[in-house]
Amino acid sequence: MFRFSVPCLMGVEGLVADELKFNGFQEVAAENGRVLFSGDERECARANIILRGGERVLLRLHDFEALSFDVLFESVKKIPWEDYIGSSDSFPVKGYSLRSKLHSVPDCQRIVKKAVVERLKSVYHTDWFQEEGPKHQIQFSLLNNRCEVFLDTTGAPLYKRGYKLEQNEASIRETLAASIVKITRWRGREDFIDPFCGSGTIAIEAALTALNIAPGARRLFDAEEWGGSFSSAFAEQKKASIATEKQEKLPILASDLDPGCVELTKENAKRAGVDKYIEFAVQDALDIDWESRTGIMVANPPYGVRMLEEQEAHKLYRALGDAMRRSPVKKYIISSDDRFEEHFGQRSDKRRKLYNGMIKCNLYMYFKR
Ligand SMILES: C[S@@+](CC[C@H](N)C(=O)[O-])C[C@H]1O[C@@H](n2cnc3c(N)ncnc32)[C@H](O)[C@@H]1O
Repeated sequence: MFRFSVPCLMGVEGLVADELKFNGFQEVAAENGRVLFSGDERECARANIILRGGERVLLRLHDFEALSFDVLFESVKKIPWEDYIGSSDSFPVKGYSLRSKLHSVPDCQRIVKKAVVERLKSVYHTDWFQEEGPKHQIQFSLLNNRCEVFLDTTGAPLYKRGYKLEQNEASIRETLAASIVKITRWRGREDFIDPFCGSGTIAIEAALTALNIAPGARRLFDAEEWGGSFSSAFAEQKKASIATEKQEKLPILASDLDPGCVELTKENAKRAGVDKYIEFAVQDALDIDWESRTGIMVANPPYGVRMLEEQEAHKLYRALGDAMRRSPVKKYIISSDDRFEEHFGQRSDKRRKLYNGMIKCNLYMYFKR
C-alpha cells in the first residue's frame, strides 16, 4: 500500500477529495492545495487516468523532520530506490523549501541526488549511471522543516489532456473547467451553454464528463513506462475506463464572437473525440435570446488588463447582465475581476474563490431570475 498526494489548484481540494471518494479510493484526506489517498499501482494508474480536477499524482516515499543536511542525506538514502529505479533509468531531482532551516533548494537538490546515487551504487555495483531510461522524477518538499520525498507518477501535468495544442493565456485550465462543471452538477440533460468558448475548454470538459470519458485514457504517463506492475496497471486501467465511455446526444452549445475561436474549439473538440456532441456557433453572447433559453450557462468572459480594455470588459458585463436579467438560465460566471457583480448589476446567490493557475478568480453563481 502506498500513500499518494494529488496537488491541486487552491479552492478545488474538496471537489478532488469528493472525486476520489466517489470512485472508491481509500483514506482520502483534503489539505491545503492537495489531497492524499492510499492505494497500490492500480489506484495510482486509475487516479492518473480518471481524475478531472487534480494536477498530478505523487507517490510519497518518505516523510521526516529535516533539520540538517546529514539527516536529509541519511533519510533519503534509506528509501529503497532500487524498487522503482532501474540501473539505466533517469532520476532528476527537483523540489522546494518553505519556512525551513534547509532553505537552499540547490543544496538540498544536490544532497538528495547524492543520497539516491549512493544507494543505487551499492545495489547495482556501478559508479556511473547513464540515466537514459524511463524518467523517475524525484520531488522533495520542505515545509516547516518537514521533508516529504515523492516520485512523480504523472509526467506532463494532468491538465494537459492532449486536445489543446497550445496553452494560451486567456484560456482556462482544463482542471479548473472540469471542477466548475462538477460544481454545476450538470448531468447531460438540460442545455449547457459556453457563450465565450475561446478554445472550448469548458464545453469540452462538460462533454467529457457527461460521456464518462476519462481525461487520461489516451495520454501517456511517466509511471506507465516504469515497467512491471506499474506498466500493466496503466494498460489495464486505460482499457477499463474506455469500456465505460458512453455515447449519447448532448445539448451543449459552444459559441464565441470570434470565428477563429470557434474554429479552434472545433479542432480541440475533435482531438478530444467530442466534436459530434457539441453545437458550435459564431455568435455575440449578447445576441443570444436568453429569455427563451433554459439550462445552464458557464461563462468565462474576457477580462481587461489595460485601462481601455477594462472599460470595454465592464461595458460587456453590464450588457450581459441586462440581456440575462429575466433569463431562467442558471448562470456560472468565472472572473478575476473583483468588482464583476457591480458591473453585471446583480449580486450573486453564491460565490466561490478559485484559482486559474496563479490567478485568483471568483465563480459567481446565479440561480434565480
Ligand atoms: C477569456 S476568453 C475565454 C477562454 C475560454 N474559456 C477557453 O478556455 O479558451 C474570452 C472569450 O470571449 C470572446 N468574446 C469577447 N466578447 C464576446 C462577445 N460579446 N460575445 C461572445 N464572445 C465574446 C473572446 O473572443 C474570447 O475568446
